[in-house]
Amino acid sequence: MKALVLSGGSGTRLRPFSHSMPKQLIPIVNKPVLEHVLGNIRDLGVTEVGIVVGTRASEIIEVVGDGSRLGVRVTYIHQEQPLGLAHCVSLARTFLGDDDFVMYLGDNMLPEGIVRAADEFRTQRPAAAVVVHEVADPRAFGVVELEPDGTVARLVEKPSDPRTNLALIGVYFFTPAIHEAVASIKPSARGELEITDAIQWLVENGAKVKADEYHGYWKDAGQAADVLDCNERLLADLRRENLGSVDSASEIGDRVHIGAGARIVRSRIDGPAVIGAGTVVEDCHIGPNTSIGSGCTLRATRVRDSIVMDGAEISHGPGLRYSLIGRNAVIGTGVAGAACHSLVVGDHTRIRVAA
Ligand code: DAU
Repeated sequence: MKALVLSGGSGTRLRPFSHSMPKQLIPIVNKPVLEHVLGNIRDLGVTEVGIVVGTRASEIIEVVGDGSRLGVRVTYIHQEQPLGLAHCVSLARTFLGDDDFVMYLGDNMLPEGIVRAADEFRTQRPAAAVVVHEVADPRAFGVVELEPDGTVARLVEKPSDPRTNLALIGVYFFTPAIHEAVASIKPSARGELEITDAIQWLVENGAKVKADEYHGYWKDAGQAADVLDCNERLLADLRRENLGSVDSASEIGDRVHIGAGARIVRSRIDGPAVIGAGTVVEDCHIGPNTSIGSGCTLRATRVRDSIVMDGAEISHGPGLRYSLIGRNAVIGTGVAGAACHSLVVGDHTRIRVAA
């Protein structure tokens, strides 16, 4: 079996981050979403991975490289425009050959893994199998209707009036039967070749399509609130480890990971929290539910329930909560005595100051 990971697309919902980094590289517990995805694929014993990349290809290639660091062998497949998930399958035709494959959307987090679904597919080998999850509002997803035996009866992409609350959650298993289906469908109303339509084509042409319900935690890392929620969920499993230095005036709670070369001075860290390599934390109160990236500097501030990315500097603020701070961002107090805030704010940025 091979894997096809989709990491093109524009990620407009994760603005402003999608202006400066592809959403698949957003760090969850200091590790890009895409690395979590590749870890789940490696757990299936699958090592041949095609990654579809779009306009942000160079950043993804810089982080993932040839995949050897992550135990997989990566082939990059370039997609000039995000013309749909089924379009990605047709672009990958040469890479996929006549092998079965797992297709995985590079912005979907399934921390409990997909081993069980893969085993089911390998044993039963239907034409296709989809992984589904119950969601409160399925209108933003592909929605599946099932026969009593768990076979898929119908799939609809983003229906305004969903008939079930079983959503497609970004993991699909295919035999080569999918290629004829992809070649047979037309673009949807939003102008994309939908994989949902290709699977529906299989159903209509008498092929067996199975659904496997995933009962664990799942998030599509498409929006800031979901990214923070996912970070909090994964931090909960952290173990205490200190690879940096902590002075005697600091207090470190349980489930705190301090990276190599990090320095904690006169500070309190409440777990779960991760402090990246080489980061300096002085006179701060950090955590819980907080990831601080590598090479950051935090002075005299309070940060909780947040993600601070590599190289950011935060000092002397009244504190941050539910915040997503981008790479190399600088947040601090302005000119002494000035009554106004001084901001350099990029497109689509959101700022909420304490009243
Ligand atoms: O998150 C689950 C949902 O993902 C499913 O329920 C839907 O059925 C499925 O269509 C998809 O919906 P989205 O509208 O959320 O897909 P999005 O545009 O966010 O793309 C998903 C991933 O695929 C993302 O990592 C970007 C990548 N992509 C997307 C398109 C359209 C590509 O690589 N190329 C593309 O052309």
